[in-house]
Amino acid sequence: MRKLKIGVVGAGLIGQVEHIPNLLRLTARFEVSGIADASTMMREELARRGFSVYSDYRQLLELGLDAILIAAPDQYHAEITLASLDKGINVFCEKPLCFSVAEAKEIAMAQQHSGKVVQVGYMKRFDPNYELLLSMVPRNADGLRMINVEVQDPDSWPFTQHQGNFVKFDDVPASIIQEGSARRVEQVRRATGRTLTGAEMWGFTNSYCSSLIHDINAVHGLLDVMGLDTSKVIGAAFFANGDGGHGTVRLKGRDAIWQMTHLFVPKIADYNERIALYFDDVVFELTFPSPYLNHFPTKLTVARSDGNVWQKTEYRAGYEEAFIRELIGFWESVVEGAAIRNNIAAATRDLALAAALAEYALASQVAA
Ligand SMILES: NC(=O)c1ccc[n+]([C@@H]2O[C@H](COP(=O)([O-])OP(=O)(O)OC[C@H]3O[C@@H](n4cnc5c(N)ncnc54)[C@H](O)[C@@H]3O)[C@@H](O)[C@H]2O)c1
Repeated sequence: MRKLKIGVVGAGLIGQVEHIPNLLRLTARFEVSGIADASTMMREELARRGFSVYSDYRQLLELGLDAILIAAPDQYHAEITLASLDKGINVFCEKPLCFSVAEAKEIAMAQQHSGKVVQVGYMKRFDPNYELLLSMVPRNADGLRMINVEVQDPDSWPFTQHQGNFVKFDDVPASIIQEGSARRVEQVRRATGRTLTGAEMWGFTNSYCSSLIHDINAVHGLLDVMGLDTSKVIGAAFFANGDGGHGTVRLKGRDAIWQMTHLFVPKIADYNERIALYFDDVVFELTFPSPYLNHFPTKLTVARSDGNVWQKTEYRAGYEEAFIRELIGFWESVVEGAAIRNNIAAATRDLALAAALAEYALASQVAA
């Protein structure tokens, strides 16, 4: 089995709770050559744990890597992806791939030029129960009436306290933080056509691009198997001071809708993410656990009626971890040429919908 030399950029929450331990588990497929992080204290801690550490991702790109895993904050994704492709390095990039469709197109051109793999970290596509749902939904969507997405999100605190050696530091230099904020504002301006601040900035970057982007991608996958595409956005809003983001999109002309809402609930120690598909004769419902709870199965239920007799069946397609399966999928794409499940084209479509929702939300904000 070919072992890929991989570098990791960003050893924060998702780096420590998922990607680094998962790469270490997949010893036959990956060898972690080094980790770049902007925090000196994090680098010292990682060095104590035996990793080769770097302050700048560009140092990683000189190590003769086969692949890079980007788990740095969102505003660095595009730059690190482009620099890695330029060096002929395969890229696994956390979501969102970038903020704007324009940047995604630049990445697509660079990827075509390099011929390397770019996979986006939409791990839900590798969730065994999501795959099972894909196999179950009717190929003919005549009976579809509504898709409902609801995310109750306290962020990560209830799900990291039990993870023994998880560490967090706050010594990223102020100059890097300021530069990062400025580039985020510019990238969001490119995505939305406006300079966003406050609740609008938070709603767009957190509710839409960080959280709902997963569900947008997952629902796009479901629409694909039903042969459907989205049509007009008919509702969108940022609410609860930007802690909430909502969107409603028409499907099948005027016949069906897809509504989605994310709400940050900082004082509720429970995460709930639900995708429900309502057909005239069957309701499918997928309930995801917090992404930080490994091997915690997603629940899939299917409800039908035979006359008055209603029945609901719960399915479980095993305990495989989506975060591990997505890394195996990445390895298969790089080494065996397997189709890339979460490719740039898919991410571009997701970002285009996020931008369309933002356009509606910002316009209605002004009207209100
Ligand atoms: N797939 C998922 O479900 C999921 C969940 C959480 C986060 N994410 C994504 O993962 C990425 C990281 O999120 P997080 O929650 O781990 O963030 P985090 O803030 O916990 O960690 C980011 C790390 O990157 C480091 N860093 C900051 N600027 C850097 C730079 N310029 N170069 C190198 N390192 C830098 C920080 O020191 C920190 O250690 C984000 O893009 C986020 O959207 C994905």
